Amino acid sequence: MSKAEEKEKTENAEKHEWEPKIVGFLCRWCSYAGADLAGSSRIEYPPNVRVIRVPCSGRVNPLHVLRAFRKGADAVLVAGCHPGDCHYSEGNYYARRRLDVLKELLEFIGIEPERFRLEWCSASEARRFADVITEVTGQVKKLGPLNPKENKNG
Ligand code: FES
Repeated sequence: MSKAEEKEKTENAEKHEWEPKIVGFLCRWCSYAGADLAGSSRIEYPPNVRVIRVPCSGRVNPLHVLRAFRKGADAVLVAGCHPGDCHYSEGNYYARRRLDVLKELLEFIGIEPERFRLEWCSASEARRFADVITEVTGQVKKLGPLNPKENKNG
């Protein structure tokens, strides 16, 4: 076996062992409660999300997202109340505008925009929450690690 084949084999083996790290900023009033309900309803979803509870999706500064990527996240999810349901009236509208701009910036700095996701999920949508996490995890697995050299599990 040539060195190149050996290297490729090792990389493939690492890729198969690799599990994506996803940082989820969840609004405490809806998505966090949805995640909680998913847990108490024993709905299974991949354990790849590290949850950060925020008071509102509008509280998420784009710098928080960039920092998560810098600290080793392979993907970031921001989830908030459905439009019109924000407990602070317009927080999720602000989030949508800001984070849309961030998505364009991500592409500009070389991070695939698919690694960032903004979702609306209410407190009663446990199944939807689990589906979103499953979908995001699958998508990131296809993309691979954001930074293969630094992104070993741990
Ligand atoms: S309170 Fe949930 S998005 Fe604003």
